[in-house]
Amino acid sequence: MIDALTVLALILVLAHFSFPLAYYHYLKKKWLNKPWDVRRDPRYKPRVSIIVPTYNEVEFIRKKLNDIYVQDYPRGLIEVIIADSGSEDGTLEAVKEWMLDHTDLNLKLMVDPGRKGKLYALLKALNYISPDSEIVVFTDADAFWEPSALSKMVSYFVDPNVGSVTACIYYTDVDIHEEAYRNYYNVVRVAESKIYATPVHNGPFLAIRADLLMKHGLPDFPGSDDSSFGSFIAFIGYRAIQVDDIVVKEPIRGSQVRRRIRRAYHLIINFMTTKKYAKRRGVYKYNSAFERIWRIEWWLHIVNPWLLLISVTLLVLSAVSGSLIALALIGAGSALLVLNIYRVWILQQVYLIVAMLRSSWTKEVMWRR
Ligand code: GDD
Ligand code: MN
Repeated sequence: MIDALTVLALILVLAHFSFPLAYYHYLKKKWLNKPWDVRRDPRYKPRVSIIVPTYNEVEFIRKKLNDIYVQDYPRGLIEVIIADSGSEDGTLEAVKEWMLDHTDLNLKLMVDPGRKGKLYALLKALNYISPDSEIVVFTDADAFWEPSALSKMVSYFVDPNVGSVTACIYYTDVDIHEEAYRNYYNVVRVAESKIYATPVHNGPFLAIRADLLMKHGLPDFPGSDDSSFGSFIAFIGYRAIQVDDIVVKEPIRGSQVRRRIRRAYHLIINFMTTKKYAKRRGVYKYNSAFERIWRIEWWLHIVNPWLLLISVTLLVLSAVSGSLIALALIGAGSALLVLNIYRVWILQQVYLIVAMLRSSWTKEVMWRR
């Protein structure tokens, strides 16, 4: 006999998987391959400020600067601000040396004596961008661009409705977990962007219209240095889009578990805070298309992981009290973990739950690699 606990667990687990799967397939079939409803013009050449936060980046900073230097965009229209937080590994010396060899690139070095985190450095660097700059690009020291990245990104800003542009991120190293994660989310983010806007932006490459930054500022709560920037732009009434034609690659370095929990933490913070923040600041503008996307994503990040946890708990309870069906279901669910995409999904739910619990007692503004 199938008991009530097992039935309830089955309903919850079905809800947990069917809703995101249905959303993914809907986006992929209906939106992913639609043409962009965005006005673009390759002749548009505004002044661009590129902000690179650095903390101990001696390994990558030269390559990063070289990538910027070889962009197929008029060099005279580019300004770079390195926002360093007291690196101790020779990053500053490397930047200064590089500057001597590349005097035709406008590069400013902003050095803070101590470390206060990436977000602090980004916000502070905004004080140093030149007043005629039209687009601000935030990019990590370990995010590598193809030479046309900048010009492609700029062309989307011809459309006055576009407030921010982020890129799909790929990896320089092979990691089946990260690839499965990106393959899934890149489809969702790009498709949402084609509908109107996506609530999640990627820190390695994130461009925002400068006048919006000057007028409305940016979210400044801990954990807001990537995704929340995108949601904020959408909440103040502009399209925040992830585009699919810019290639940005990053290496996989440091502890991946710690990094994935941090990534989940930023997502949780975004979905719990950014909308309230925009409303509190009095800059929130209602947009029905984005509200629909936001509500779905909010559910997928804040509620959906718990359905899985509750359902597993119910199955365990029911198995302990003798249900063979519950035991068989737990066995089947565990056996499926050999499938990479399923395992990545389950782990992501675990990370989201851990991040949610953690966010209630700690605010992370700095991280170990
Ligand atoms: N100025 C400054 N101060 N820069 C910092 C600090 C700091 O305290 N901490 C990190 N950075 C810089 C790094 O030098 C790098 O350029 C960038 O911020 C990202 O840091 P990584 O150490 O490469 O971390 P990640 O690859 O795990 O970061 C990912 O997650 C972050 C949020 O959790 C990326 O997606 C980031 O874009 C994202 O912000
Ligand atoms: Mn990185």
